[in-house]
Amino acid sequence: MFTLGIETSCDETSVAIVRDGHEILSNVILSQTIHSKYGGVVPEVASRAHLKTIIPIYHKALQEAKVTIDDIDLIAATMGPGLVGPLLVGLSFAKGLAFAKDIPFIPVNHTEGHLTANILEHPDLDNHHLSLIVSGGHTLLVEVMEFGRYKILGQTKDDAAGEAFDKVAKVMGLGYPGGAKLDKLAQSGNARYFKFPRAILNDDSYMFSYSGLKTAVALYIEKLSAEEFEKHKADIAASFQEAAVEVLVKKTLRAVRDKNIRDITISGGVAANSRLRSMFQEKIKGSKFRLFYPSLELCTDNAAMIAAVGYFRYQKDGAGELIANAVPNLRLDEI
Ligand code: KG4
Ligand code: ZN
Repeated sequence: MFTLGIETSCDETSVAIVRDGHEILSNVILSQTIHSKYGGVVPEVASRAHLKTIIPIYHKALQEAKVTIDDIDLIAATMGPGLVGPLLVGLSFAKGLAFAKDIPFIPVNHTEGHLTANILEHPDLDNHHLSLIVSGGHTLLVEVMEFGRYKILGQTKDDAAGEAFDKVAKVMGLGYPGGAKLDKLAQSGNARYFKFPRAILNDDSYMFSYSGLKTAVALYIEKLSAEEFEKHKADIAASFQEAAVEVLVKKTLRAVRDKNIRDITISGGVAANSRLRSMFQEKIKGSKFRLFYPSLELCTDNAAMIAAVGYFRYQKDGAGELIANAVPNLRLDEI
């Protein structure tokens, strides 16, 4: 079964063709670079950029997969969460195409897409697993009973983990979005240089908080002279990253122990973080736990993960409705 997936919830325009939920035939991703000069995504600008590029990217995805629209059995598009203008571009395009070609249609939750990137790439992953979703918009700890049945154990009280990486990167002059650049800089720094706060690390909840950490780093930098900052830039990046990652790893591992779950998945843009991966590996070494993460391309926003959700949901519940609307604040447990 060939599923065509469409993703336009933020600043990536992406169209993918996935066979049977596991085999990616194409996954074309265009990241809009125009927002870097504004220091963040401008919704109106993003919508217009999606409108300009969605049709050429759709043709490219078909071409790379060596199929035509007549080979497509299912169309899946992100309906939320995300920015309403960008969401409407991809969703309307998908619905128009499904209607014109009489192809079944599935609206997809973007957060479920991140989680499903692991199911797409790791067929041996246990159905019942624990999923840490960490992106620019989300920090969620989810018990996946099986695909489609989720219990949200915890989430952030304020900023998302990726948002904290982006804001600290911005204060450090690394540009936007700066998560990946901060990760790279941190590799040459000393993570023990300064101990930034680990928010709500030792309580018995699975909640997270990132706004205090972000402010602590900003205040710390403010007090430094230009020379001191330059000299210790990498150390500050590494120390911030260590604090941000430690809370994610410790709370996730506490949850798998509490719930007696073997498999852990991480997904979303921050799952690309090298220290998050290495700290998890260090802590689970020699234990029964298994860690899964998507390849780099499937960590950040992409349409292959959306196509995979569409396929698995279609297997479970059949086609969705063409009246599906964009829902900017769609929750994972609302679907
Ligand atoms: O999943 P994603 O593409 O978009 C959302 O759904 O939000 O995630 C983007 C986020 C950005 O905040 C970006 O800075 C962060 O993921 N990110 C990273 C890394 N690569 C991307 N954060 C830390 N380390 C990285 N290597
Ligand atoms: Zn995302």
